[in-house]
Amino acid sequence: MEEIKQRMEELANILEEANYNYYVLDNPTITDQEFDSYLRELETLEEKYPEYADPNSPTKRVGGMVIDKFKKIKHQIPMLSLPDVFNEEEIIAFDERIRKSGFNPEYVCELKIDGLSVSLHYDNGVFITGATRGNGVVGEDITHNVRTIKTVPMKLKKDVTIEVRGEIYMPRETLAKLNQEREELGLPLLQNCRNAAAGSVRQLDSKIAAKRNLNTWIYHLPNPEDYGILTHWEALEYMKSLGFKTNPANRLCKNIDEVMSFIHEYAEKRPKLSYDIDGVVIKVNDLSMQKNLGFTSKYPRWAIAYKFPAEEVLTKLKDIIFTVGRTGRITPNAVLDPVIVMGSTVQRATLHNEDYIIEKGLKIGDTVSIRKAGDVIPEVVEAKVERRTGNETDFVMITNCPICDTPLEKKPGQVDHYCLNQNCPARHIEGLIHFVSRHAMNIDGLGERIMEDFFNLGFIKTIPDIYHLDEHKEDLVSLEGYGHKSVENLLNAIEDSKQNSLERLLFGLGIGGIGDKTALLLARTFKTMENLASKTKEELETIRDIGPILAGNIANYFADVDNQALIDKLKELGLNMTYLGEEQKENNLITNKRFVITGTISFMGRDEIEGIIESYGGHPSSSVSSKTDVVIVGDKPGSKADKARNLGIEIWDEEKLYSILTDLGKMNE
Ligand code: IVH
Repeated sequence: MEEIKQRMEELANILEEANYNYYVLDNPTITDQEFDSYLRELETLEEKYPEYADPNSPTKRVGGMVIDKFKKIKHQIPMLSLPDVFNEEEIIAFDERIRKSGFNPEYVCELKIDGLSVSLHYDNGVFITGATRGNGVVGEDITHNVRTIKTVPMKLKKDVTIEVRGEIYMPRETLAKLNQEREELGLPLLQNCRNAAAGSVRQLDSKIAAKRNLNTWIYHLPNPEDYGILTHWEALEYMKSLGFKTNPANRLCKNIDEVMSFIHEYAEKRPKLSYDIDGVVIKVNDLSMQKNLGFTSKYPRWAIAYKFPAEEVLTKLKDIIFTVGRTGRITPNAVLDPVIVMGSTVQRATLHNEDYIIEKGLKIGDTVSIRKAGDVIPEVVEAKVERRTGNETDFVMITNCPICDTPLEKKPGQVDHYCLNQNCPARHIEGLIHFVSRHAMNIDGLGERIMEDFFNLGFIKTIPDIYHLDEHKEDLVSLEGYGHKSVENLLNAIEDSKQNSLERLLFGLGIGGIGDKTALLLARTFKTMENLASKTKEELETIRDIGPILAGNIANYFADVDNQALIDKLKELGLNMTYLGEEQKENNLITNKRFVITGTISFMGRDEIEGIIESYGGHPSSSVSSKTDVVIVGDKPGSKADKARNLGIEIWDEEKLYSILTDLGKMNE
């Protein structure tokens, strides 16, 4: 028996070492076949002798552990964030402030990785826990998912008891692949590497995290004095020697000029990196100096984060074209010579409306600068007037709908132009896309591109056509990219959507001004489509949150014979027309109160929190005013938190929210 245990340990060591060489050092020492054969041998032994199986075994790197909730972990030393600075003057001021304290500091420059920070604990060299930052004081236990990250050592090269901190990130290429898969499945795309990494470590099932190819850079040792370490640079070296992955870009700089060179160098190299960074972190190297400088209430005084400006590139504005939205709104779009901005090709950018173009003075043929802050939608910053050749042409706003030629209208005091032709084909496709979208009927597999295909092929021209798509089954199967299985899944998803609760259908119909929240309010209040359709404008207006404009839109919608015919048809096709959701619950902290959420809540998504608030008759909203009752403040809150404080509005921090949700039984505790 002792022999078997020994062999298992030996195999674990071989595999751990191979992992380290491959993933951390990027220097494979055994072949894939050898690795697999050792892994299989260990798996077999673990199955046979589960009493010897180690929770940190290399076999756990592929996941397998599923938890039912995230435990909280209190950080012994709070996980602080850094003050942001945005220009060279502020960096110089940082250096001068330190010099004024009588120091002549060296700095360590590091890349500011755009991921999420993690704290890792080891006991006698053995991995114990991994936790998120959370609100800085209390984080979440993500140990099961951290075990799947190949660059996190399960056993250190020395038997030390230690905490280290760093960043978990997703490589850019992984995000691109993941989004490609999601697009094929009709799932919403992940916005950026940071969100994708954060979403991955928040999976209950570690098999999912294991597939996300997460990686780490370790950059902070909270207790350096315990290891006799005197500088941050030594701390980085020490962590590297223990087996952690430290960033080869880290640099020891003798003075602030060298810091500036580092920043310039990496501003250039940034687009070519395989992972996202959003700046450079500058840390005083000497730990006794750090200690002397100390902390403010929020930040260390010995480090700053310089944030790169949003990258701007120049390209040519080839044309301005117009698209028609579901509500008939006309949007001008810049057609650009394709350029790469922050790693992805941009050839379109929204120009919002006529006034926006006039304000920027854009001409067709102009050289314009394009910016993409983070991974958000690209925007045209300005025209480079000095580059004009005289061949540019003035922008002229169109007067008629580009699709159906109906004259456009602009309401007084508004900036947008509208095509008010209800039968404009462009409106239909947008309306169809809206009908199947996530907050409406939520039909998986009918993404925007596929809807466009089906519209152009003539399969889906109206909403009822969606429910006749099965008549085109043969055609669908023969289409490129749609196999038997995916057609089957799609038709099932369409069929299932018939059972949706009323609010989804109501929102999907696209009645002017009825967002998903109003749709829910209407469904909850009136219970059936029939009942709602029978109400007059005056009756509708008596409901809190339904003003005269909305009430008018709803009453007009149901008075229209075409709309009545559509609803009859959908009823015949078997679509559910009643509210199936929970009855309104009451809670004196929530019911009838207005809420605003700002910042990121570490333990729950914003949609989910808003859903809970609504289910108790509270009203989530996006802007803080004197009418707001409660502002929920998460990590990195915006100016809304300050505004709330100035207005003396009640504030719930993460802990308060957590305890209220726990009392409501929403935290599975
Ligand atoms: S040091 C007390 N170094 O940026 C020092 N942070 O606002 C703690 N980050 O929450 C942080 N790269 O998530 C440090 N090389 C780096 C970093 C880094 C990314 C993140 C980290 C932190 C935030 C600072």
